[in-house]
Amino acid sequence: MRPRSIAVVGTSRKPGSIGREVLTRLVEGGFRGPLYPINPAVDVIGSLRAYPTVTACPGPVDLAVIAVPRDKVLAVLDDCAAAKVGGLVVITSGFKEVGPAGAALEQQLVERVRRAGMRMVGPNCMGVLNSDPAINLNATFAPGRPPSGPIGFISQSGALGMAVLDFAQSRDLGIGMFVSTGNKADVSGNDLLEYWEQDPSIRLILMYVESFGNPLKFRELAERIGREKPIVVVKAGRTAAGARAAASHTGALAGEDALCDALFHQCGVIRAQTVEELFDIALAFAHQPLPGGNRVGIVTNSGGPGIMLADACEMLGLAVPEFSPETATALRELLPEEASVGNPVDMIASATEESFQRVVGLVAADPQVDAVIVVFLPPVLTDPERVAVRLGDLADRLASGRTPKPILGCVMGARRAAGSLAELQKHRVPSYAFPESAAKALSAMVRYQAWRKRPRGSVPRFPSGRLQAEQVIEGVRQAGREWLSEKEVGSILRAYGIPMVKSVSAGARGAVADAAHGVGYPIVIKISSPAIIHKARVGGVIVDIRTDEELRLKLDDLEKRLAAQGFEPGKYGFVVQPMLPGGREVIMGLSRTPKMGPLVMFGLGGIFVETVKDIVFRLAPITDREAMEMITGIRAYPILKGLPGEAGVAVQTLQEMLLRLSQMAVEVPEIAELDLNPVLAFPESDRCAAVDARIRVGSGGARVPVAPSNATGDGPPPGKMDIPPRV
Ligand code: ACO
Repeated sequence: MRPRSIAVVGTSRKPGSIGREVLTRLVEGGFRGPLYPINPAVDVIGSLRAYPTVTACPGPVDLAVIAVPRDKVLAVLDDCAAAKVGGLVVITSGFKEVGPAGAALEQQLVERVRRAGMRMVGPNCMGVLNSDPAINLNATFAPGRPPSGPIGFISQSGALGMAVLDFAQSRDLGIGMFVSTGNKADVSGNDLLEYWEQDPSIRLILMYVESFGNPLKFRELAERIGREKPIVVVKAGRTAAGARAAASHTGALAGEDALCDALFHQCGVIRAQTVEELFDIALAFAHQPLPGGNRVGIVTNSGGPGIMLADACEMLGLAVPEFSPETATALRELLPEEASVGNPVDMIASATEESFQRVVGLVAADPQVDAVIVVFLPPVLTDPERVAVRLGDLADRLASGRTPKPILGCVMGARRAAGSLAELQKHRVPSYAFPESAAKALSAMVRYQAWRKRPRGSVPRFPSGRLQAEQVIEGVRQAGREWLSEKEVGSILRAYGIPMVKSVSAGARGAVADAAHGVGYPIVIKISSPAIIHKARVGGVIVDIRTDEELRLKLDDLEKRLAAQGFEPGKYGFVVQPMLPGGREVIMGLSRTPKMGPLVMFGLGGIFVETVKDIVFRLAPITDREAMEMITGIRAYPILKGLPGEAGVAVQTLQEMLLRLSQMAVEVPEIAELDLNPVLAFPESDRCAAVDARIRVGSGGARVPVAPSNATGDGPPPGKMDIPPRV
């Protein structure tokens, strides 16, 4: 990114061709070092001396930008290696993205690059840019050039990269470095994060991502680097959910998008839903200080948009508080009677630049307020540009004050607003066309700040049940099965101290009554068969049976219904459980993905899990804090907390169950899918238990070592979970 000399290999004589465009951009951009066009057919291109090969150049070459046809790239690479080039940017396409033959060729590129100790961006990329005036590197074929600034931008799409650079220019968004990563054959997004971590000129990192090569490394890097430099990501390919066949609810719901949400949430990455939002957020982060809290003061000269903004703020978790009495009094004195001096302040259409400046100043100084959003409709009688000048001055002062508070603008009415927008941009006041965009940008800042301040939490370690789980799984494998029986599931849950309601396997129908007496009415009966994974779906769960007679009638009825579905008696057995009245149904689950590893799920349980989808995923291992956030993060949390007049459920017990599940997920990679659905949650911690559970084993992945002192296989008994010391 800081070359002293550049060769453009494949600089064509044809103006407008890609190689020629790159050379033109480098010249126009004011690159200061030697530039060598490489073309075997001519001696001069434009006004520059051309050379047939890189080795023929008269001086050392730091960077080679390659835009020759695909079949010539390997030979050019060898030439670069012989000339001791440090870095390559391969623009040429036709590699991995076109199929196996291209992928094989790409592999050869990587091998040669590594053998020669070079680094390569691309292939199939749009180039790189460093706008540092001391470097002036625009090795792209994109027209225009963004202003220099604190942003590092990684784009996996070249075409989008062109739009990005163009847009950045129009919004005065300073891009320090831009890298179109293309196929990421050598240099990856993770490499760039590590590079920018060390570069003080980059303070904010934006990414357009289509796929993660190594998401776990990204998690580690983003978590570390993001604390100092906010990382904002827009991820394309949101709709792959459900492509994978899965038999558990957890597996079925763990779509790619849910995984990315979990990944971003856990490492503090700010996720933008669209490219537009990415820019909206970037403008705020790049130009304004972070707010100390979530309280917004709104100032407007038009009631409607002010109310819309207040609504948007509250929906996004921002607060629109009452002003302090001093501010309210001062506003009353300052503004005409028709104005509204609450929050939002509506100064009405007669507001002048003077009143804007004074009112925004008063609101920003209020200790109840952490940030100000000004919604401005260019009025007929006031010059919008003059208002913008005043607001810009004020924002400059606030940003350098003792308690910096951000100011964001929303300027509505494109034609009349053009001058004021430019003026606000000059003063680094991010300005949006609609109130909701301003609210979204501010809420991203607030969420980021909250993440940074939040303690990380710790991952507790419970006695490991791995050895016991492994023995069970070995038995399942030898029997040639994937799904575990009730008994096997119970054994694994016990090994990890996860409480499961007492379940008595009655085998055939004749033994059900005895089992019922042993458990004690009221009871629940469930059918049991390796062929029936979702018992409730075939009507195989009957609850609240109170007498022997009722049991006989219900079993008759059940056998008839199952026979009608092709399940003959004798092909299934029965399990008897005590009926637990009341309780809230939640679901806990575990699933895994090849790239991101194990995942833990929590949500509202029962038969509507996949319809209601009130669930949250996190990558395992989770911390105690993350486990609690999963529980409090579902929409139905108020129900778990307790409706009026009702005790809430024992959330700490649920938290501990999730942590135990997370440890199991990490320690027993053979478990491919697990559902505890429902887990019945009660106010009393010792009553909380899974009443149904399913486990499927898969081929398994890497196993983590277990500390010998814990490797006894003896978990605490179900229902009696002591919170162990945190480590
Ligand atoms: N060394 C130096 N120059 C060479 C060599 C060599 N070994 N071989 C050929 N050249 C010269 C050619 O002589 C030619 O110059 P000339 O026109 O003066 O004769 C020049 O290199 C270019 O070669 P062409 O055959 O004209 O190739 P062209 O410019 O049409 O295409 C390109 C080359 C652009 C690399 C093409 O193969 C390609 O990959 N295009 C797609 C690029 C792309 O989309 N990348 C992803 C960008 S991201 C996005 O989506 C926007």
